[in-house]
Amino acid sequence: MAQQREQWGTRTGFVLAAVGSAIGLGNIWRFPYVAAENGGGAFFIPYLFALLTAGIPILILEFGLGQKYRGSAPLTFSKLNSKWEWLGWWQVLVCFFIAVYYAVIIAWAISFTFFGLTQAWGDNPSDFFFGTYLGLTGGPFELGGLQAGILIPLLLAWVVTFAALYSGVKGGIEKANKFFMPALFIIIIIIAIRGITLTGAADGLNYLFQPDFSKIWDYKIWTAAYGQIFFSLSVCFAIMIAYSSYLPKKSDVVNNAFITGFMDVGFSLLAGLAVFGILGHMAHVQGVGVAEVGKAGVGLAFVTFPAAINTLGAFAPVLGVLFFLSLTFAGLSSLISINEAAIAAFMDKFSLSRKKAVSIYIAVAAICSLVFATGAGLYILDIVDHFINNFGIVFAGLIQVILVGWFFNLKSIQEHVNAISDFSVGSWWIVCIKFITPIILGYMAIMNLIGDLKAPYEGYPGDALFWMGWFVMIVVITGGFIMQAFKTQSRDLKE
Ligand code: PHE
Repeated sequence: MAQQREQWGTRTGFVLAAVGSAIGLGNIWRFPYVAAENGGGAFFIPYLFALLTAGIPILILEFGLGQKYRGSAPLTFSKLNSKWEWLGWWQVLVCFFIAVYYAVIIAWAISFTFFGLTQAWGDNPSDFFFGTYLGLTGGPFELGGLQAGILIPLLLAWVVTFAALYSGVKGGIEKANKFFMPALFIIIIIIAIRGITLTGAADGLNYLFQPDFSKIWDYKIWTAAYGQIFFSLSVCFAIMIAYSSYLPKKSDVVNNAFITGFMDVGFSLLAGLAVFGILGHMAHVQGVGVAEVGKAGVGLAFVTFPAAINTLGAFAPVLGVLFFLSLTFAGLSSLISINEAAIAAFMDKFSLSRKKAVSIYIAVAAICSLVFATGAGLYILDIVDHFINNFGIVFAGLIQVILVGWFFNLKSIQEHVNAISDFSVGSWWIVCIKFITPIILGYMAIMNLIGDLKAPYEGYPGDALFWMGWFVMIVVITGGFIMQAFKTQSRDLKE
């Protein structure tokens, strides 16, 4: 039976979905601190450089590939070269491992949206989060049972994701993002305005923006900038290829990539204003330096921020709810995208209907995510996240740019995107994909590998790092080749 591949309803719908994938937890809790710790205002130079030499060029590449070859990542790579399908499955497997813990962080954000109403975290948000809420045990192998308080919001996160994906590209994913994205921008603008008008906000913003140009020659701020751009734009994750495989025949690619990149960066800046304005206020109230009030990651969002909200007086309930709602919305739209990357791959490979693929995949992912809702969840999450970010993504991205840049006719993709886009890309694009990005990713891959071999991550026990880190990487790599070995059941889609 010949069916038509699904399509986005409108160009805006596609851009909002791509932006929805890009804007996520990473923009709100990761970006502000990565920037502040890596030279403040001076960080924006490598950051913009990374956006223009890697982020947007790879977005153009992935949008172009998906649009031209009309397939999920494994199918698209197998069309470039029949031996390359595994690379797509690597990326899909990375997506799977991210999805199962990302969902749990969204569950925390949902809980905290309600807690925000009454500041249920009390005077000691750290004890509340790690103890009362997470029930954190003594180590990664002490599971300590499921936390009831996480289960219900986790179910909710999966139900929303399921509903969006089950209803299809246009009727589900596009609709969800058309709601989430505008709502998210409105919320973050409200928080940013309140944030920067608080007393002490200037100290926070100074901390964020004060340029420290002496750091500009430090390679670390360059790898931090590239890392942030890759994670934030969701490139090399199979996601943007899947999303653009639903573009109509004649659709702009170059312009859409620039819009997506700039909206993501713009949102990060707004989040930076919001977060550091409020942290500056807290530091002011407590009479300490901004540098002392917290650190990046879960600690920032679920411990430092609640503490900062406690200092806001009458505004506390409003900002408490809005902040965690923004995390929830940003997270959900990314979670939808990360699951779609995998679901599209299974639909393409095994000729499954959307409804069947979504039902099976989401059920499996939801069950696997339960591990992270146990008392050891945070440890496991921390390890899996570290390995996926430092190796999974970096290596999948590196291999992608090398294969497509050096072993494929990159010019043919350039010609394709130029033929359908409002404005054309020149040879700078080829230089970015063939030279700049592989050199930087290659360097990051080596440095990360040396770092992890030298010192065990965060001092976790070796067996935990093996089973939750290295072994996960082995599953990703072998899984890719195993999936490639299965026969593809073509769906005979009409163009
Ligand atoms: N880009 C998202 C963020 O900034 C993260 C993400 C990673 C989304 C992987 C999807 C896949 O949080």
